[in-house]
Amino acid sequence: MLAALPIAEPDPLWALIRSFRHDRRADKIDLVVGVYRDASGETPVMCAVQEAEARLASAAASKSYRALSGNMAFNEGISAFLLGADTETLGRQCTIQTVGGTGALRVLADFIALVSPDATMWNTNPGYVNHRPIMTAAGLQVKSFRWQENDTGLDIEAAFADLDEARKGDVVILHGCCHNPTGVDPSLEQWRRIAAFCKDKGLTPMVDMAYQGFGDGVEEDAAGLRLLAGALDTLLVAASCSKNMGLYCERTGAAMVIAPDSKPLSNIRATLERIARASYSMPPEHGAAIAAALFENPRAWLAELEISRRRVAGIRRDLGAALREHGAPAKFQALCRQKGMFSLLPLDSHQMTRLREEFGVYGTASGRINIAGLLPDQVDRLAAALCAVLRNVAVANLR
Ligand SMILES: Cc1ncc(COP(=O)(O)O)c(C=O)c1O
Repeated sequence: MLAALPIAEPDPLWALIRSFRHDRRADKIDLVVGVYRDASGETPVMCAVQEAEARLASAAASKSYRALSGNMAFNEGISAFLLGADTETLGRQCTIQTVGGTGALRVLADFIALVSPDATMWNTNPGYVNHRPIMTAAGLQVKSFRWQENDTGLDIEAAFADLDEARKGDVVILHGCCHNPTGVDPSLEQWRRIAAFCKDKGLTPMVDMAYQGFGDGVEEDAAGLRLLAGALDTLLVAASCSKNMGLYCERTGAAMVIAPDSKPLSNIRATLERIARASYSMPPEHGAAIAAALFENPRAWLAELEISRRRVAGIRRDLGAALREHGAPAKFQALCRQKGMFSLLPLDSHQMTRLREEFGVYGTASGRINIAGLLPDQVDRLAAALCAVLRNVAVANLR
C-alpha cells in the first residue's frame, strides 16, 4: 500500500517557521506565524478566557459526549455575535459548532458538494492559502477572481470583471473582514454592490469570518456580512474564535447556513450533523464552553480584544511613519489603511528571500507579513530593511 504513497511536499509555511527557529540572529523578526502577539512578543491567554476556564474547572461538568451540533449556547452566542442580536436573520439560520474556522470551511464545502456539486467556488486572488485545498478536498472546482488595490482601496471593478464569468449557483468566497493576506476590505458601499452583484447573478456568498474585532471593531467588522444577510436569501458563513478569543489550539469555530426562511432549517441541521458525524463526529467542548461564557458576559473580553485591535492599528501607523522617514515609495502607505493582522508587501519572492537571508526578516515568499507579530522595537528596523531591499543596499551598509 505505502509503495504508492505520492511524495507530499512539506507545507512551505512550516518550513519557514522551522528555519526561523534555527536562525541564531538575536534581532530576527518573525512575521510568518499568523497569531496575535502583544507588545512583549507573547500570544497571551486572555484574562476573560482564564476566568471562564477557572469557572469551568471548578464546575467540573461531565466529559460525556455532547450533541452533534456541539455546544448550543455557543451556537446561539456566535450567531448573534456575527449577525447582530436583534435581526430577523437569526430566525432563518442554522449554526453548528465546528473544529475551528477550518472545520467550518470544510463542513460547508461538503455541504455545497452535496447540494450543488457542479457549483464553482470563486476564490480571491491572492487568497487565504487553505481555501483552495479545502474546497478541492471536498471535490469542488475552484476558480479565482482578482482581489487587488487601486489608489483608494479595493479595486472592485477588477473583481466584478473576473466574476462576470461565474454562473448562477456558483459560490463566492469572501473574507468578512481583515482579508488574509492583503488586509484589503470592501467599503460599505462596495459591500452593497457585492450584494447586488450576487443577487443579480444568482451567486451565493460564503463569508469567512476569522478576524472579527481586529479591523475597525466587532460591530463594524460584521457590517458587510450583515448587509449581505439582509439582502440575500441564502448565505454561508464560516467563523473562527481562534484570533478574537485567542483560542487557537482549542479549535473553536462555527458553520452557519442562512436560508430564505425557517422551513428548511431542521433539514439543514440534520445534513450538517451528518457531514460532521462522518468526519469528526462531535466538536471539542472546552473552547466552545469558554466562548459561550464570553458571549454571555462579553464586557471584559471585548475590552481585551479592543486593546489587541488598537495595538495592530497602532503598529500599522508606526510602520507607515517609519517607512515614510526611510523614503519608501508612496505605495507602502497602503499598509496604514489596510485592516487586520496581515498585509501583502509589494515585493517579489527574490526580495523576500533577501529580507530573510540578509536582514533576518521572515515573511512568506508571496510577501505576506503578520503585522500583529511585529514588536514596537522592531518597526524601525523592518522599515529600514524594506527600504534597503528596494534600493538594493547590502546589510553591512545599514549597521
Ligand atoms: C481567512 C481564514 N480563514 C480561516 C482560518 C482558519 O481558522 P482556524 O484556525 O480557526 O481554523 C484562518 C486562519 O488563519 C484564516 O486566516
